Amino acid sequence: MSLFRHERLELKTPDQIRQMRASGLVTAAALAAVRGALVPGAVASEIDALAESVIREGGAKPNFLGYEGYPGSICFSVNDVVVHGIPESQVLRPGDVVSIDCGAVLDGWHSDAAITVAIDEVDPRSEVLIEATRQALWDGIAAFARAQYVGEIGRAIGASIRAAEPSFGVLRDYTGHGIGTAMHMPPDVFNFAARERGPRVRPGLVLAIEPMVVEGGIETSVDSDNWTVRTVDASRAAHWEHTVARTPDGVWVLTAADGGAAELALRGVEIAPL
Ligand code: MF3
Ligand code: CO
Repeated sequence: MSLFRHERLELKTPDQIRQMRASGLVTAAALAAVRGALVPGAVASEIDALAESVIREGGAKPNFLGYEGYPGSICFSVNDVVVHGIPESQVLRPGDVVSIDCGAVLDGWHSDAAITVAIDEVDPRSEVLIEATRQALWDGIAAFARAQYVGEIGRAIGASIRAAEPSFGVLRDYTGHGIGTAMHMPPDVFNFAARERGPRVRPGLVLAIEPMVVEGGIETSVDSDNWTVRTVDASRAAHWEHTVARTPDGVWVLTAADGGAAELALRGVEIAPL
């Protein structure tokens, strides 16, 4: 956080943002394909292979694969796994809550997005969790469209979750991030009102905004595989993410097929593509 305070932010030109859009559309296509395959009986490694094939057909590469030794093209996080679950032999069952995080690199430009899906009928509280987290992502994106400081995004996300269900927890140990020529760049993007207001928002700033929300306590642990992040109290988690560019006139959601038009219109914000 404050470590990054004086760090230089990578501001993209309009042409670079258009290149990032191409990368974002590949990630969006991969997640759309994955979403259709998330049914009871689906195996994590097969979902991973599907995502990888869509990414490669799009002329891109999976940016997760090999990242600090990560073995998959997606993260596959079921129930109490919040993020960074490795896609292996897990089989989806009715009632599961699964988060899929996915990214691509195209012509050197990274994109990163995540969805959370209910497998058949899930319990009502999990249904609320998934939808509240999705809404909080879009509320955070709408805040980015008007923000003067990056900290306003987390403030909006935190308020959105509190309004939906005050007993839900918002993770503090994991954050969103800048993105561009690398997947993870400054600044950190908190999902709550942090003490500092963060760096100033400028046109060309591109962020991966990604609320991670749990039904119970926010304490997490990492499995012995050094990746899988779980809630300590075994409560369920949801994770939604988009890569979003701030343009001179607002935002463009690079990993949404419609650029964010529909969800932002609901919040009185127009998208501002380049
Ligand atoms: N999208 C994830 C994040 O921002 C990236 C996962 S790291 C990987 O945390 F190694 F799994 F790729
Ligand atoms: Co991310």
